Amino acid sequence: DVRNAVYPGSFDPFTNGHLDIVERALKIADSLHIAVLKNTSKKALFTPDERVEIIREVLHKYPQVKVETFEGLLVDFCRTRQIRIVIRGLRAVSDFDYEHAIFLMNRKLLPDLETMFLMAASDNSFISSTIVKEVAHFGGNIADQVPAIVLDRMQKKRAHINAE
Ligand code: PNS
Repeated sequence: DVRNAVYPGSFDPFTNGHLDIVERALKIADSLHIAVLKNTSKKALFTPDERVEIIREVLHKYPQVKVETFEGLLVDFCRTRQIRIVIRGLRAVSDFDYEHAIFLMNRKLLPDLETMFLMAASDNSFISSTIVKEVAHFGGNIADQVPAIVLDRMQKKRAHINAE
């Protein structure tokens, strides 16, 4: 039996924290779908299609990873692809209420779906896409928080992002 899992999120941008969760999820799942939510936030740095392109580049050495955008309910994405495992990363207790609410709702909508939470490694526990975007916006160094490919794409998007 093939274990298909999904790792859903906004990934704007994809960070080293996300990368660590992906690599650890690959020990559990035979195939991992990364589902990039098509949200229309004005604070978005990359379009959903750009995020997909970037994540594919970062994870090109993992043939068992598929990267796609999705709209609508996560449970519908899972239903159409025979996915029964959702992977989410947990950093601190502050993530708990939000994750718990998503878990309970997804479970209500699709009881067969199981959510597995992977705890962030200590080095990654403070990394957040929102904070990375803000620090980069004001010229701070985010080279330790995102893969080199992401840093490069952020520098191209916003000329003043500092890599040193
Ligand atoms: O990285 P994020 O923004 O915390 O990810 C949140 C995400 C994409 C997992 C969640 O918002 C989601 O699954 N949205 C799709 C809509 C849906 O299924 N909603 C019901 C469960 S909240």
